[in-house]
Amino acid sequence: MALSTDKAGRVTDALNSRITCRAFLDTPVPKDVLERILQTSMRSPSGGNLQPWKLHVMTGETLAEFKADAKAKTLSGNMEEPSHPAYPANLWEPHRSWRYKLGQDMYDKIGIARDDKMARMVWLANNAVFFDAPVGIIITGDQRLEMPQHMDIGILIQSIMLLAREEGLHTAPQGWWRNWPSVTNKFLSIDEGHEVLVGMAIGYGDPLANVNNLIADRANLLEVSTFYD
Ligand SMILES: Cc1cc2nc3c(=O)[nH]c(=O)nc-3n(C[C@H](O)[C@H](O)[C@H](O)COP(=O)(O)O)c2cc1C
Repeated sequence: MALSTDKAGRVTDALNSRITCRAFLDTPVPKDVLERILQTSMRSPSGGNLQPWKLHVMTGETLAEFKADAKAKTLSGNMEEPSHPAYPANLWEPHRSWRYKLGQDMYDKIGIARDDKMARMVWLANNAVFFDAPVGIIITGDQRLEMPQHMDIGILIQSIMLLAREEGLHTAPQGWWRNWPSVTNKFLSIDEGHEVLVGMAIGYGDPLANVNNLIADRANLLEVSTFYD
């Protein structure tokens, strides 16, 4: 299915046309549009109205320097200690298979063989440049936050992703940014005792990029729900 570049008029359209966009055009996002999305996202609910988030919004020169540093460090192969691991250790079924399938479907789309480790690493480094998006956001929070506040962060990013669709924009949520504290600490004013929770690329999706034709599979509703009458 081709990437929809239309402006979504309904929540349903926004949700159905949202994907994790992994190739952006270099078209800048107008400042007022970006501010409107982020301002409206502040209406996101959070337990106890804690609003446990800090947004670091990068464009222009800062973003360019941030990306260059992150890309160089990524390609150096020297991993850093992530603020949180992306997944639980020894991921179990059915999640393990879902994760595997996502990788397989994505590499199929872009023509990288699953056993071509080098090509995969080079591709993964696209994370480090926010998939070439003109806006990169890092969301930080206090290290003392607990699971319920991490849920609040999830709600916030979903708000941003849906509002972006309303403006004809696409997004990529990126846990990737938990892996590079030396980069985020160098460029951002992160409060003492705070850490990176998630990042996000925002921009105009490239409708001609094969990777953006990936529609990640989902479980059937009945596989994950029980209805009680
Ligand atoms: C919190 C969160 C973090 C994610 N981090 C990354 C990431 O670092 N890199 C990436 O390519 N995709 C990332 N994803 C995208 C997921 O792989 C994607 O949401 C999932 O495969 C479903 O595909 P879809 O978003 O295209 O519907 C992340 C998604 C979420 C919700």
